[in-house]
Amino acid sequence: MTKNYPKVSEEYQKAIDKAKRKLRGFIAEKGCAPLMLRIAWHSAGTYDANTKTGGPFGTMRHAAEQAHAANNGLDIAVRLLEPIKQQFPILSYADFYQLAGVVAVEITGGPEIPFHPGREDKPEPPPEGRLPNATKGADHLREVFGKTMGLSDKDIVVLSGGHTLGRCHKERSGFDGPWTANPLIFDNSFFTELLAGQTEGLLQLPTDTVLVTDPVFRPYVEKYAADEDAFFADYAEAHVKLSELGFAEA
Ligand code: HEM
Repeated sequence: MTKNYPKVSEEYQKAIDKAKRKLRGFIAEKGCAPLMLRIAWHSAGTYDANTKTGGPFGTMRHAAEQAHAANNGLDIAVRLLEPIKQQFPILSYADFYQLAGVVAVEITGGPEIPFHPGREDKPEPPPEGRLPNATKGADHLREVFGKTMGLSDKDIVVLSGGHTLGRCHKERSGFDGPWTANPLIFDNSFFTELLAGQTEGLLQLPTDTVLVTDPVFRPYVEKYAADEDAFFADYAEAHVKLSELGFAEA
């Protein structure tokens, strides 16, 4: 889809550039890249293309959205980010949370992701229940990502590669453990681990396993496991799409 990006002021662009540098240092120091990628994704992933509601518009700043069951633990991300956000009052929360997601991928060794500023903050959180449920299957993923967000099967697989970072926490999601041996490194090991099957100490969610068993998803898994450059190129493209759902549509 052609995008119609808003023009931001020079002052706004400068604040973006500076906030990006601050975020690099901060996220590296705290080792919180996984949580930052998760807040960016959970902010954007509520978009409903049918009603044009939800999406990456800063609503995660509201306690009500942090209290959605799928967002367990993201209050920590909001709290961590707040002191830096305070230094850049000109920026929208919408842009700021998405910028944190981009920086999280970059500083852990992932691809550079183009960032277009200008998202505005919406006043109200979306209704609860739009994010995917990890205990479900391929139909559910296609319902949430495809019919609701407007993304493709390829996007589902490549974005799931975001689980190269981080881990599940028993007290947050009920699941426990990391997907890869290096949860602070962004690489294609999520896909190589998926193909290797169950490895001691590593986890696969039902929605991850489905990527190997579904005949349309599986070839993408094989491609990304074999070719990290292809993963990085497709990931960057899909991340931009996700981070811009409902934004700058022509
Ligand atoms: C395909 C559907 C998805 C499901 C069902 C899902 C589910 C989950 C669950 C259950 C957790 C564990 C939360 C916790 O206990 O702390 C998690 C963590 C995480 N997810 Fe996903 N996820 C999905 C897609 C994605 C996507 C598209 C991305 C990013 C592109 C992503 C990035 C992450 C990251 C980085 C973490 C780790 C957070 C941390 O270490 O604190 N996930 N996800």
